[in-house]
Amino acid sequence: MSVHLHLKIPASTANLGVGFDSIGMALNKFLYLDVRINNSNRWSFKHIGPNVESLPTDETHYIYQIAQQVANKYDVTLPSLSIEMRSEIPLARGLGSSASALVGGLYIANYFGDIELSKYELLQLATEFEGHPDNVAPTIYGGLVLGYYDPETKVTDVSYIDPPKADIIITIPSNELSTTLSRNVLPETFSHKNAVRNSAISNTMISALIQQNYELAGKMMEQDGFHEPYRQHLIPEFQTIKQIAKQYKSYATVISGAGPTVLTLIAPERSGELVRELKREFTNCRSELVTVNITGVESEVVY
Ligand code: HSE
Repeated sequence: MSVHLHLKIPASTANLGVGFDSIGMALNKFLYLDVRINNSNRWSFKHIGPNVESLPTDETHYIYQIAQQVANKYDVTLPSLSIEMRSEIPLARGLGSSASALVGGLYIANYFGDIELSKYELLQLATEFEGHPDNVAPTIYGGLVLGYYDPETKVTDVSYIDPPKADIIITIPSNELSTTLSRNVLPETFSHKNAVRNSAISNTMISALIQQNYELAGKMMEQDGFHEPYRQHLIPEFQTIKQIAKQYKSYATVISGAGPTVLTLIAPERSGELVRELKREFTNCRSELVTVNITGVESEVVY
């Protein structure tokens, strides 16, 4: 009898403006993995659909690399696996596709290595690999998660607030933007004055989100000084999307993660008109409504 591990792993949007590397929200777009033991001595990958067809099918695959590193850390041997992968999350667009794959690798090692890692431990491991929790924490837990990874102690602490009761539109450009490139344009140092300013903006944004004051939260989101001023030139559509969204009284338009996807928060009564306008205006992009995922990664064993 063959056992299949099915994983349904959400996408995520990181930063929400000024929450650079610390705030993220899970989205209802998924990476699906169907994993089973094979009878050969090699792992194999089968990719179905446009978002994954460029990925390698052998043991250079990121999911294999992650799963083996976890297995080595816990001194277990994984069986050879066949993995079928489908994804609604486009690669290198700022929607957490690599965080979803990373979480997939962790869950695969945990199940097939019979390690029994708790969710807390999975988060610690995921953040150690990624360097920051803003994509992996919501991917694992769902919802809107804030977190801090201390590189010295290697401990990640997280906290949650209710996701905004607003509609979300993502506009996904057709081009990829590498996270490395998008991080390389950021400054190495930041003045004390700038740090004080941006932490005040961030604190106010979080408090406004908790109070469901989306006008104020949006105003703060759009004043980020940590990453958007340095990255926006990499996303030619960004300023125009922001201007159009403002005409529809959007709360905020920000870069999703490292880009190039642009995310808009808007009241439900105006989101339909705006998304259709963005579709008409940006025929080279995909504009769509997306909802917040509140469950995080789901795993099921099927016999
Ligand atoms: N916070 C990260 C960034 C997300 O904006 O670069 C992508 O890893």
